[in-house]
Amino acid sequence: MNATPFTPHDAGHVADPDDALEAARRECPVTQVSDVLFVVTSDTDVRAVFQDTVAFSNRGNFTIGHEDRNHAFPGLTNLDPPVHTELRSRLLRNMAPKKLRSLGPRVAQVIARALDGLPPSGEVDLLKDYISHVPSAVTYSMIGLPEEYWSEVEVLADALVEAVPAPETSMPEYDRLMELMGQVVRDRREHPQHRRDDVLDNLCFAAPGEREMDDLEVVMHLRQLFAAATDTTRALIANCVYRLLEHGDWARVVADRSLLKNAIEESLRFDSPAQFMTRSVVRDTVIGECPVPAGHKAYLSIQSANHDEAAWGSTARQFDIARQVAVQHIAFGRGIHSCLGAPLARMEAYMAIDSLMDHYPRMTAGRRATWEKCEGLLLRRPKEVWARLVEEIPAVTGSDSGQVAE
Ligand code: HEM
Repeated sequence: MNATPFTPHDAGHVADPDDALEAARRECPVTQVSDVLFVVTSDTDVRAVFQDTVAFSNRGNFTIGHEDRNHAFPGLTNLDPPVHTELRSRLLRNMAPKKLRSLGPRVAQVIARALDGLPPSGEVDLLKDYISHVPSAVTYSMIGLPEEYWSEVEVLADALVEAVPAPETSMPEYDRLMELMGQVVRDRREHPQHRRDDVLDNLCFAAPGEREMDDLEVVMHLRQLFAAATDTTRALIANCVYRLLEHGDWARVVADRSLLKNAIEESLRFDSPAQFMTRSVVRDTVIGECPVPAGHKAYLSIQSANHDEAAWGSTARQFDIARQVAVQHIAFGRGIHSCLGAPLARMEAYMAIDSLMDHYPRMTAGRRATWEKCEGLLLRRPKEVWARLVEEIPAVTGSDSGQVAE
C-alpha cells in the first residue's frame, strides 16, 4: 500500500478512504490538511476529543473550512452546554431508549409494507426498492409528520444530506423543506385537538418550566432530526446486507439468527455510516502529541478510529461477524453528543434484515453488485445493493412432493 495520508479535500480519498486513513494513522495520526483543519485518525485521539467539551465546541460541526453552519437556530448537534443540555433533555422525552423501543410495532408495519413491494424472485436494488423506505417512514412517524408530506420531504431531505459539506442554506431544496415544515408546525399549533405524543408536539408546546420556541426554531430542530435519522440508518442496513452477501455470511446468519446482532455492530464498525464529525477548537490544546491552536477545526475520522489496528488488532480492516468486541466501535460518537437515536437505528436494522432473511433465506449477491460509495463527504454506503431474490419454496409432503419446481 502506497497511499498518501487522508485529506477530505481529495475526492479520491473521500470515495475510497481506507488506504489513505491507514497511511495517516501510521505516518501522522493528527495531520494539518489546510490552514484551518486538522484530521484526527487514531481511536484514542478521536475518543479523547469527543469527550473534551472544554477545548472543543460543536459549533461548525460537519464543516471543514472556515465557515460555520449558517442557520437561524443551531440544531442539537451544533450546540454547546448549557443550551445543548436543555434541548437534549427535552428531546429525551420522546427519545429515551425505552420510548424508542416502543416504536417496534410501528417499525414492523413499515417493514411489512416495504416487503410487500418486493417481487418474489429476480434481481433488485434492495437499497432503492426496500431499504430506503424504512428509516424515512419510521422517522416521520416518530416526529409526527402527517403522511401527506412524506414523499416530498423525503426527496428534499435526501438532496440536502448528499450535499454535505456544501452550504445547504443556498439550495432550493432547503427553502422548500423549510416552507413545508413551517406549514406542519403552524397546523399542529392551530389545531391542539390533533395533539399526540410525538416530537412535533414536544417542540410545539412547552411543558411547565420549559422555553417556548417560535415556529422557525421548531422547524430547524425537526430538520436536523430528518438529517440525523434517515440516511444514516439506511446506510447501516445497506452496508450490513451488502457485506453479508459479499462475504457469503447470509446463509450462516439465516441459519443462526443469534449472529445478527453482532453482525450489525461489526457493520457499524467496518463501514461507519457517519464518516466523521467536526469540532471547533476554542482554546489552545494538544491532540495526541500535536499542538492545535484555538481557531482551528478538528475532523474526527470515525471510519479511521473504527479501523485503528492499535484498537482492533491486525484484522481491523476485515469484516468479521463473530468479532468479539465489535460493539465497542464509535460509530454513534461518544460523550455528551453521542447519538440519541442509536437504539432506534439498531432496532430498525435488526428488524429489517431479520424480516428479509425470513422472506428470502436463499438470497445471494446480484450480478451487478459492486461497492461504489455514495456521493457526499458524510455518509458511507454503497450507491446500490443488488441482490438476487430467490423465492422460498413451501415445504411439501406426500403425493405433492416433487411437483414444485423453482
Ligand atoms: C446508523 C444510524 C446512525 C448513526 C451512524 C448515527 C451517528 C451519530 C453520531 C456519530 C452522532 C454524534 C454527533 C456528534 O458527536 O457531533 C449522532 C448524534 C445524533 N443522532 Fe445519530 N446516528 C444514527 C441514527 C440516528 C437516528 C435513527 C436518530 C433519531 C431517531 C439520530 C439522532 C441523533 C441526534 C438527535 C444526534 C445529536 C445528539 C446531540 O448532539 O446531543 N441518529 N448520531
